[in-house]
Amino acid sequence: MSTSGVVSLLRQIEGTGRDTRGPGYQRPGFSAVERDLRDWFLAEAARRGLDTEIDANGITWAWATPPGDDAVVTGSHLDSVPGGGEFDGPLGVASALAAFDELKASGALEKAARPLALAVFPEEEGSRFGVACLGSRLLTGAIEVDRALGLKDAAGDTFADVARGYGLDPERIGRDQSRLAGIGSFIELHVEQGIGLINTDQAVAIGSSIIGHGRWHFAFSGQGNHAGTTPMSHRADPVVAASRVIGDIPTLTAATDAGAVATVGRTLIHPGGTNVIASAMSFWLDIRHPDDAVVQQVLEAISQRAEVHSADSGVEVTISQESYSPTTLFTAELNSRLTSVLPDAPLLPSGAGHDAGILAPHVPSAMLYVRNPTGVSHAPEEACEADDQRAGVMALAKVLARELRI
Ligand code: GLV
Ligand code: MN
Ligand code: MN
Ligand code: MN
Repeated sequence: MSTSGVVSLLRQIEGTGRDTRGPGYQRPGFSAVERDLRDWFLAEAARRGLDTEIDANGITWAWATPPGDDAVVTGSHLDSVPGGGEFDGPLGVASALAAFDELKASGALEKAARPLALAVFPEEEGSRFGVACLGSRLLTGAIEVDRALGLKDAAGDTFADVARGYGLDPERIGRDQSRLAGIGSFIELHVEQGIGLINTDQAVAIGSSIIGHGRWHFAFSGQGNHAGTTPMSHRADPVVAASRVIGDIPTLTAATDAGAVATVGRTLIHPGGTNVIASAMSFWLDIRHPDDAVVQQVLEAISQRAEVHSADSGVEVTISQESYSPTTLFTAELNSRLTSVLPDAPLLPSGAGHDAGILAPHVPSAMLYVRNPTGVSHAPEEACEADDQRAGVMALAKVLARELRI
């Protein structure tokens, strides 16, 4: 086994969880597809003689040494957004397996002074239950257990029921202090999700921070009615109010701060008939900016506009926060060790959220980003060249070796 393994490892799962509606992947958290990917991971871990376990929060662990405290942990996730790319998540998992191969082949693993483990986090994207990084949030206590258990997916199934079906015990779900305390450092490798490494001669960057980001649910309710018999002046149409708000979001966001980003990527119209004036419409809003106060200002501007358009259309709007992650700086001391073994790697902030960002306030955490030549992510065009994948494995192996004090 060698570092070329990362390419063939990813090839093994390229057919799993293809989006049946078009190109890309559809790998929801805690689904049959994620379970297939977990089974693939467990088999690859077993083939390497790693000891595996699934913890109370559904996080899959594979130990390259006997488990213990002050462990060096790497890993990522296997779920995807709807219509997602091939690398967001799986690259970090496959690269970690390949890096372990590298450490073993070089004899470095035998000399390890600290335990070494790989962790695969479930529902990182939050595409099923709405809360991103659900596994790491549960592990760290960043979400209340009762709230998590009551989260519902689009089919109306609660997380408690789905978790039970996944073999978890809802009574045991939640903050796991002893497991958290056992992590000495966490390093997540991830495909770069923007244009940060395009046109540079570097295949790998070190993460500096994750910008603040949150999700809000806007629910508009009006009067369902007949599309043919209801005069335009007699309507209370939530689709009109919600669409006007969505149309105003780019201008409101840019007017608040040129660096802020706000996105509506998901809407729901109820009941959804061509000849039916809807009774309700929802959209989900994602806002991000390095300054948490700016995120709040953008939210405030959009919320005010939602009140105005709702009043104009005679509908009601309710706004609720689904999740929020403040701007997180990766651990300076750990990053200086990464820089000592990867002196040419640039430091990059991330507009994307990651489990490493959830872990960072609790344990020393860091990230490596591997060049993405398209600069596109959360879409099928996301890419990573084979040579860059191998460079990522070599970089991760160096970082892990340094952490293992070899
Ligand atoms: C997940 O990748 C996110 O940043 O939303
Ligand atoms: Mn993602
Ligand atoms: Mn990811
Ligand atoms: Mn992410």
